[in-house]
Amino acid sequence: MIFTMNTPVVESVLDEQRRFAPSAEFAAAARVRAADLEALRTQAAADPEAFWAGLARAELGWRKLFTRTLDATEAPNFRWFVDGELNVSWNCLDVHLAERGHKTAILFEGEPGDRRCLTYRELHGEVCRFANAMKARGIGRGDRVVIYMPMVPEAVVAMQACARIGAIHSVVFGGFSAISLKERIEDAGARCLITADGGHRGGNVVELKAAADKALADGCDTIDTVFVLRRTGAPIQMRVDRDVWWHDAIALQADDCAPDWVDAEHPLFLLYTSGSTGRPKGIQHASAGYLLGAKLTSRWVFDLRDDDVFWCTADVGWVTGHSYVAYGPLAAGATIVMYEGAPTFPDGGRFWSICERLGVTIFYTAPTAIRALMKLGDDLPAQYDLSKLRLLGSVGEPINPEAWMWYHRVIGRERCPIVDTWWQTETGAIMIAPLPGVTSTKPGSCTQPLPGVFADIVDEDGHSVTTPEAGGYLVIRKPWPSMLRTIWGDNARYLATYWEKFQQRFYVAGDSAHRDRDGFFWIMGRIDDVLNVAGHRLGTMEIESALVAHPRIAEAAVVGRPHEIKGESVFAYVVCRGARPVGDEAASLTRELRAWVTEQLGAIAKPDDIRYTDNLPKTRSGKIMRRLLRAVARGEAITQDISTLENPAIIDQLRG
Ligand code: PRX
Repeated sequence: MIFTMNTPVVESVLDEQRRFAPSAEFAAAARVRAADLEALRTQAAADPEAFWAGLARAELGWRKLFTRTLDATEAPNFRWFVDGELNVSWNCLDVHLAERGHKTAILFEGEPGDRRCLTYRELHGEVCRFANAMKARGIGRGDRVVIYMPMVPEAVVAMQACARIGAIHSVVFGGFSAISLKERIEDAGARCLITADGGHRGGNVVELKAAADKALADGCDTIDTVFVLRRTGAPIQMRVDRDVWWHDAIALQADDCAPDWVDAEHPLFLLYTSGSTGRPKGIQHASAGYLLGAKLTSRWVFDLRDDDVFWCTADVGWVTGHSYVAYGPLAAGATIVMYEGAPTFPDGGRFWSICERLGVTIFYTAPTAIRALMKLGDDLPAQYDLSKLRLLGSVGEPINPEAWMWYHRVIGRERCPIVDTWWQTETGAIMIAPLPGVTSTKPGSCTQPLPGVFADIVDEDGHSVTTPEAGGYLVIRKPWPSMLRTIWGDNARYLATYWEKFQQRFYVAGDSAHRDRDGFFWIMGRIDDVLNVAGHRLGTMEIESALVAHPRIAEAAVVGRPHEIKGESVFAYVVCRGARPVGDEAASLTRELRAWVTEQLGAIAKPDDIRYTDNLPKTRSGKIMRRLLRAVARGEAITQDISTLENPAIIDQLRG
C-alpha cells in the first residue's frame, strides 16, 4: 500500500478473504444483536440528533435534563446537551451504590505481585476522600490538575476525584520525561500535580517524584500543591510548603463528598497528544458527551455483562486508559482489572497468568503487545487456562493479519470474537469497530462505523471514494457527542488541524483508509507527520526539535520505518555542526543522542536508527524531501526526481 498526500487514490494490495462470524451462542446472548443493530442504524440515519438525545437520556443520570441536543452555532466548535447538568463521577460510582455497592470495581495487581480489590463502595469512598483532600487545598471547579502516576488504583481515584469536584485533569504518561511533564503543566496552567514516589516497571523503579521535582525546579509557577502517593517506598524529597503525602492528605477526610453538578459542556479533561508541529496539543473533552461515548461503546463493543471481568491493558496516560479503564466500564458498572507493570515481567506469560488468576473474560490490548508476545511462541500462553476469555480487542494501530490470526488462534482458542477498534484521542470513544455478536470480522479490518458515526473516505476534493479498495482521507461527516471540543488555549489550531482541509465540511482524522466491497474499513496509517510507535503517537517535529536542541546537531529530519513489533520505529537523519562523525565517534554520538531524546521526551521517542549526513535532501523551495528519506529508511528504491538535489552524493550518506 502506498499513500501520500499527493496521490490519495491508490489500490490496496492487501486482499484478505477470511471471515469470522460470531458463534451462534455468542450472537444469541449478545447485548447488541442483528435486529438491534439494524434498529440503531435506522434511527441514527433518520435523525442523528434524536438518536443521541434518546441515548443521553437513557444512559446518563442528569441533575438537570438538557432541552437542546446539538448546538452548532459556533460550528465546528460543536456543543452537546448544552443546558443539561450532571456529574461524571456520580455517573460512574454513586449510581451503582444501591445495587452494586459490594461488587468489585477494580482488581489490581502490582508488578511485584501485590494485589488489591476495591468494591464500588470502597472506590466511591476513596474518591470522595481524595476529592475532599483536594478541596481542602482550595482546588475546585475549572482548576487544572496534572496526574503523573503509575498504573495503580489511585490513578483512577485521582481522575474520578477531579471529575467529582469539577477540576479538569490532564494525565501525563509516567514514561514521559521531566521536560515533557513541565511543558504540559505549563500549557495547561495547572495548579496541582498528583504523583507518586515511583512505580514498578520491568523490574525497575520509575522515579516519578524525582522527575516531577526536576519539572518543577524551574518554571511551572502555577503549581501550589503536589500530592505524593507512597508506592515504592524509595526515599524522595518533599518540599514542606508544597508537597503533601497522599495518605496524610486523606487521613482525616470524610468518605463522602457531594458531587459538583456541572454543565454538560464543562471540560472533563485535557489529554496532550502529538500533532504535526513541535508542540503537543491539549485535546479538550467535555463532560456529558464524552461519558456517553465511553459508556455506550463499553457496552456495545465489549458486550459488557454483570459477571464480566474486563481488562484493558492501556495505561491511564493514554486515551484508551481514560475511556476503557477510568470511565466507560465504571459507568457501565463493570469489574475492571488494572496491572501496573510490563507484559514481560518476570516473563512473557504475565498477561496470560493474570487472565487466568483474575478470571478475565474480556481482554483489550494493542497490536504491538500482541506481536511482542507472539514472538515468544505458543508455548507460554498454552501453559495458562484462558478458558474464561470470551472476547478480545485490539486498538492503537493497524493489526496485521498474522498477529490477528495468532490472537484468534492462540489466545482466543478460536472461540472469541476479536474487535479491532479504530478511534483517536480526539474522538473520545471507539468509532469504527465490529459489534461482536453481529459482525463477521476480517483479520486487519476495523469493519464498520458504529451507529451514529458517519465515517467516510474522501478524495483530495472531498468527494466520497466509492471504488472498492481505493484509498483516501478518513473523515467523519457529522458531529458526535464524544468528539473533542477544542485544543486547549489554541482554537485556531483546532480549526486548522481538523477542519480546514475540506472547508469545515467534515472532521479530518489524519488517517488514510480504504473500503472493500463489503463496505468494511481498512486503516492504512497516518497521512500527517505523525508516527505510530508501539501504538503511541509521536510527532516527527517533536523529535526533530529535541535533536536540534543538542549542541552538536544543526539539523534533523525524522521519519518512520516499519518495525516488526512496534509497527513503526523512529529513524533520524542528522546534520552535525562541524565534521560529519564516522566510526567510533559516530557510535558514541548515537548513544548520546538516544539518551538525549529520552531525557527530552521520554524513552518511547528514542530513535532506533540515526544516520549522519552532510546535509538533508531538500526541494528547491527548501522543503525536506521526506518521501525520499522514508524510502531510504525502508531500503526501497528511490523513484522520485532527485535532479534538484544540490549534492546528489548525499544519497550514499543517507543510505549509510
Ligand atoms: O492512526 C490511527 C491509529 O492511532 C491513531 C490515534 O492515536 P491516539 O490518539 O494515540 O489513540 C490511540 C488509541 C485510540 C489513529 O489516528 N489507530 C488507532 N486505532 C487503530 C488505529 N489504526 C488502525 N487500526 C486501529 N484499530
